[in-house]
Amino acid sequence: MGRPSLYVCNCNGIREREVRAAIDAGARRPIDVFRAKGCQAQCAKCVCEMRQMIQERREALAYAAE
Ligand code: FES
Repeated sequence: MGRPSLYVCNCNGIREREVRAAIDAGARRPIDVFRAKGCQAQCAKCVCEMRQMIQERREALAYAAE
């Protein structure tokens, strides 16, 4: 808490907390995160990290549902 949210996507200025919010709102692929922010992939360097965040969030939700 209180930690500054790091940028996941430098090209579009998308922060970690914004990626998490997009995932919680239903984003299942990096393209969904870009759409949620009204932008699109540019260099695509952030796509792997977004995929990882989506995977981790899904696993956390699956674990919570057990
Ligand atoms: S860092 Fe996200 S598109 Fe370049």
